[in-house]
Amino acid sequence: MNILGIHIGHNASAFLLQDGAVIAGLSQEKCDDIKNSADFPADAIRAILNQAQLSTDGIDHVAIAGNQILPRRSYDYLFQNKPTDGHTRSGAVGLALKLEAIMPTALASIIFGPLRAHRHKQRLTQGRKELSQNLSDLGLGQTPCTYVDHHICHARAAYCSLGGTKPALIFTADGSGDGISATVIKVDDQGHWTRLGETPEHASIGGIYSATTRFLGMRPLEHEYKVMGLAPYAKSYADDIYERAFAKTIQVSPNNPYCFESTVDSRKFYDHLAKTAVGERFDNIAAAAQRLIEEQTVQWVERSVAESGVHHAYFGGGLFMNVKLNKRIQELDCLNSAHFMPSCGDESNALGAAYDVALEMGPVQPLKNLYVGLSYSPEEIEGHLKEYGLNYTRPDNLNETIADLLADGQVVARFADGNEWGARSLGNRAILAHPGRMESFFTVNDQIKCRDFWMPFAPSVLDTAADKYLENWTMERTPAPFMITAFQSTELGRKELTAALHRGDGTLRPQVLTPEANADYYDLIQRFEAKTGIGAVLNTSLNRHGKPLAATPVQALDTLVNSGLRHLAIGPFLVSKD
Ligand SMILES: [Fe+2]
Repeated sequence: MNILGIHIGHNASAFLLQDGAVIAGLSQEKCDDIKNSADFPADAIRAILNQAQLSTDGIDHVAIAGNQILPRRSYDYLFQNKPTDGHTRSGAVGLALKLEAIMPTALASIIFGPLRAHRHKQRLTQGRKELSQNLSDLGLGQTPCTYVDHHICHARAAYCSLGGTKPALIFTADGSGDGISATVIKVDDQGHWTRLGETPEHASIGGIYSATTRFLGMRPLEHEYKVMGLAPYAKSYADDIYERAFAKTIQVSPNNPYCFESTVDSRKFYDHLAKTAVGERFDNIAAAAQRLIEEQTVQWVERSVAESGVHHAYFGGGLFMNVKLNKRIQELDCLNSAHFMPSCGDESNALGAAYDVALEMGPVQPLKNLYVGLSYSPEEIEGHLKEYGLNYTRPDNLNETIADLLADGQVVARFADGNEWGARSLGNRAILAHPGRMESFFTVNDQIKCRDFWMPFAPSVLDTAADKYLENWTMERTPAPFMITAFQSTELGRKELTAALHRGDGTLRPQVLTPEANADYYDLIQRFEAKTGIGAVLNTSLNRHGKPLAATPVQALDTLVNSGLRHLAIGPFLVSKD
């Protein structure tokens, strides 16, 4: 039984499940090289079917993530960095939005509510029509198709991918999806799912964070990690802006521990900030937003656990891309375990939708690892190297050669086997460097990545060395294989991983690596450890600024040719520029 899960919209993605097991997954951005591409993921679908040696005739069922499918043009508007006050719209819609903004809320909702609902319905009809055409174009027009609720997708992705145990709570939170911004689901001893609570989209804790991202001049649904990275640099008087603009705007409902309620409509939080936060320092605003989501989400989890009596939890949805929030959650005494879906934005919903349909037919398998993308033979890679006219060698022991270069302070990119799914490099499409030398940070950033000056890099750490560098790390409770949570560094961690930690607060966002997850990458780091005594490397994604994490040899070679990167280990080959 082959099930194709599809997420349409921001970071459109596809996953293939075969008899309940993940065969392949890919985002459209890997194919068109547009970060978070919202185009229908036709290229990604073709690529994963090709990888699995299947045609669309071999797909038994299509699972679409979400009930509300918007037309393609809507995503262009939604994710542009524009305010929500209507001034960017033209014509009748712009005028209506301006009138709505100056009217009393109750009157505006009487007049404009039906109009807004009508326009939304029109958009959804158009969205389904476009989807239907896209599926037909792929040869999937007659394949049975199921639409799966947006937050069920987040919950299925987190719980099923991570091998969910029983009983458990599943928390989902994001900007919004299918009109909902957060849910709590209980999985009982028998495996039955019950939704204990849901929060509507106007009280979205994730939406508040995204609105703050937009207010700070960054791109919502993409640059929230920059706001998080900025927060530790705030000054002590950040409390002022917190009290004035953020405190009490959203809280856990006094009457229902599973839901949030807000005093400010989170869809209009940009406008709220425009009235309360203009002129404030950008780092203080970032810190205030981070404090709000940490404090309120922790309360949500603590009160839900207390009410339900369930002490194992799974987390999915874009809010939990925030590794500092996840650090707070995993440290809670009320939880015996906390599991965070890797790359848990809407891209994970393609997998969640596929799991949901697969569960109707039988048991499903957890994700073994995230290396479920595209892989290439040495012959294919060599063909690309020749096309680029690059000089290359085929070292007898590539890992030993890479380890020598890293130990010598050189920066080396690594392109190996299947690409990792999601936003974070887990070693197969990576730029690696010595983590104990601060010049690594500047070389990687200035010559290749060009990231904002306050953003840290992260380490890949051998499981045998993790407790030396990470406070409160244990394999049993906090294995951290996916760079989706953070830890305070130990004194040794601050010394030996100095180029891979957050300079503002000394935290590390590690990938703790086991031989089972990636034997070849593990071997490489072991060789580096033998030369330096450090059981970790600095690991950042193989891409240039503004581009998605590379998936194909062409994307990797473009990065090499168009940046200050000097060494690229690709397949069994090593390319070194003069
Ligand atoms: Fe979502």
